[in-house]
Amino acid sequence: MKKQSVGLGLLGLGVVGGQVARVLTEKAETLSEQVGCPLVLRKIKCLPQDLNRPLTKELPAGIFTTDNEEFFKAPDIDIIVELIGGENPAYDYQKRAITTNRHVVTANKEVIAKHGTELLKLAQQHDVGLCYEGSVGGGIPLIAPFKHDLVANDITGVYAIINGTTNYILTRMAKEGIGFATALQNAQQLGYAEANPRNDIEGIDATYKLAILATLAFQTEVKPEDIYCEGISRIGSRDFRYAREFGFAIKLLAIARQSDNAIEVRVHPVLLPEETFLAKVDGVYNAVEVEGDLVGKVLFFGEGAGARPTSSAVIADIVYSAQKIARGISGKTRLRLDSGRSIKPMSAVETEYYLRITAADRPGVLAQIARTFGDHLISISSAIQRETENGGQSAEIVIMTHPAKEAAMQQALAELARLPVVKEVSNFIRVENV
Ligand SMILES: NC(=O)c1ccc[n+]([C@@H]2O[C@H](COP(=O)([O-])OP(=O)(O)OC[C@H]3O[C@@H](n4cnc5c(N)ncnc54)[C@H](OP(=O)(O)O)[C@@H]3O)[C@@H](O)[C@H]2O)c1
Repeated sequence: MKKQSVGLGLLGLGVVGGQVARVLTEKAETLSEQVGCPLVLRKIKCLPQDLNRPLTKELPAGIFTTDNEEFFKAPDIDIIVELIGGENPAYDYQKRAITTNRHVVTANKEVIAKHGTELLKLAQQHDVGLCYEGSVGGGIPLIAPFKHDLVANDITGVYAIINGTTNYILTRMAKEGIGFATALQNAQQLGYAEANPRNDIEGIDATYKLAILATLAFQTEVKPEDIYCEGISRIGSRDFRYAREFGFAIKLLAIARQSDNAIEVRVHPVLLPEETFLAKVDGVYNAVEVEGDLVGKVLFFGEGAGARPTSSAVIADIVYSAQKIARGISGKTRLRLDSGRSIKPMSAVETEYYLRITAADRPGVLAQIARTFGDHLISISSAIQRETENGGQSAEIVIMTHPAKEAAMQQALAELARLPVVKEVSNFIRVENV
């Protein structure tokens, strides 16, 4: 049935919610034209402290509520836009919206990564849509290209810099030679990192986003806990110096790739050849490289967060859902989960490696280290040795390997740590020749 107007309910009036409310008000006329009938913001559920925000003076007073029941029972709301973030109560709110036959638009990566498949199935049963373009890469179109423009492809790989905070920290470390703690502190002062930065620096935020992209790309349900995850706090300024000597940059990369009949899904720091596009993505920018059998390589690049870019994605989802509602077309989101691919265990993944080892500075040490690698069928492609600053008693040995299985590398690392000549395996980073 065609509608005379489409009503919206907004949950959350924070950074993104506030901007979405502003755009819906300022661009009401053009957005309504695109929908084909008036697009009306009818209710905003916020917390009591939000009622003092300047934005509340620009909107009709009756639109605001702090009461859940008033919000969910308000008449003529066709689309609920969830922008409060976090797993709960956002997950419950999305479920309640769907089961009361309202379309849902959200930018909530945590809820979609953890519960997206279940919510999409529920939305199918209720013949409504669930759209989440803003959940990955802020304003960069990623979800719609996977759902529409790339559907004819067998996706072979997705390589993504999808956390602006860590990319900012790594860029400062690379360009200025500063340590991790200083770079993190700077990022916090500039508002690029939260007071509790754990989700970003430990790679958790990137695993949520990779779970969403990998599920779409490979038609296989990928949950955050399926993804191998390592953050950036181990990276030292010395690693950047050595990486540069070998011709590499260091980035936190989210990788989903076809491998045999399975998929690899992992988030960890990598050495990337300096001449590659992803190695040159600096600061808070995000970039995603997708490889498909027909399209070849395509690149998506832009601002991966922020109120304005994210509102661009959220409003696009609102207009898309509203167009369907206005025309009386089924809102159902199609869910393709039919590939039957399994997830490759990390121990079976094969990459090249960079290792930085502190060892005794005496003859034969490098030979002992090389023998340990040889025992695990790992071959060294190049090595450099530098004296450390403690009067020539120890040396820093940096080794690059040929491709080796992760299980073999972990065993070799454990054995290296037990060698009397090895003082410390200071770092090891995987190398990706994307
Ligand atoms: N900010 C970005 O650049 C960005 C980019 C992409 C995606 N996203 C996603 O967009 C969503 C919103 O992010 P944001 O940055 O706008 O977060 P935010 O600034 O923290 O906004 C969330 C707002 O919702 C309020 N809230 C919490 N619980 C609520 C409840 N039960 N009912 C009503 N309001 C409630 C919060 O109040 P309190 O602060 O008092 O708790 C806060 O004002 C998140 O899912 C986030 O991951 C954000």
